[in-house]
Amino acid sequence: MSQASVTVVGSFNVDHVWRCARLPRPGETLGGRYLSGPGGKGFNQAMASARAGAATRFVCALGEDAGGQLARALAAAEGIELHETRSSEPTGTAGIFVDAQGRNSIVIGPGANAALTPADIEAEREALVHAAVVLAQLETPLPAVEHALRLAGAAGACTLLNPAPADVALPQALLALVRIATPNETEFCAWAQRQTGSAPDPDALAALADAALHALCRRLLPQGTVVVTLGAAGCFVSHADHARHGDALPCYRVPAAPAQAVDTTGAGDAFNGALAASLALEPQAPFAQHVRFASRYAALSVERHGAALAMPRRAEVDARFGP
Ligand code: RIB
Repeated sequence: MSQASVTVVGSFNVDHVWRCARLPRPGETLGGRYLSGPGGKGFNQAMASARAGAATRFVCALGEDAGGQLARALAAAEGIELHETRSSEPTGTAGIFVDAQGRNSIVIGPGANAALTPADIEAEREALVHAAVVLAQLETPLPAVEHALRLAGAAGACTLLNPAPADVALPQALLALVRIATPNETEFCAWAQRQTGSAPDPDALAALADAALHALCRRLLPQGTVVVTLGAAGCFVSHADHARHGDALPCYRVPAAPAQAVDTTGAGDAFNGALAASLALEPQAPFAQHVRFASRYAALSVERHGAALAMPRRAEVDARFGP
């Protein structure tokens, strides 16, 4: 596999999805349409990276069951190099409700994902030290994520952390290994609350002045770049060192690409996988170009139902928005 490659460390889930007119309230029973398919933030991001054109490896833990078989078959079909730890736990699962506006509520059952250890990561060292970009999220145990980012950073790879889901606290030792962090508004505010003791309301984040948002990003990740994804409001980029990333400004906004959303499940994963692929494929390009591609890629993904299988191919993104 070439240097222009991405290694994703993370979760695989079998997603059980109910499409309903609106999200259920506590104590309520609603009717909906059921379907299941491959998901998990890690696997969704690996699919996005591969379909965006990067040679992609996926480091994960899977059970000895039908879910594990699904992951193996799909990785093979998509050309994703799978580096798995076999677990006696069942493969991860997620229960997902999607409403008529494409919004979702998700509960995950980690299963095998929770079994990934630093020793498992160490066993996959080669997959980490030869990647241009290593991307992780927080659906696998923090010690494994931390070890992966440490190996990757020491080897000179670009370390990218998507701090999702929001309910996982980020240790400083892990954050110190991150070159680029990509929280959404909920994840960003949860992170800020834990680290600084106060945070804006997630619903008001997009309206915050650039200077204030930039200052907060600099407190959270002093050494790196923060890309806050803001849904329909696009995203906000804050650099510690903009020149290093080929950008003219230390902070700026990138508008969202137009989309007719039917299902936003995995939109953040689409963004992250595409961003990682773009960084790996064109390391000399300005960072703003990578973010624009990732935004377009994510926009196309929300026009389809499902998670991993909703990831578009690069040619589809180019056909829709231009190269
Ligand atoms: O980000 C979307 C993903 O979150 C779903 O595919 C689900 O498996 C959960 O991990």
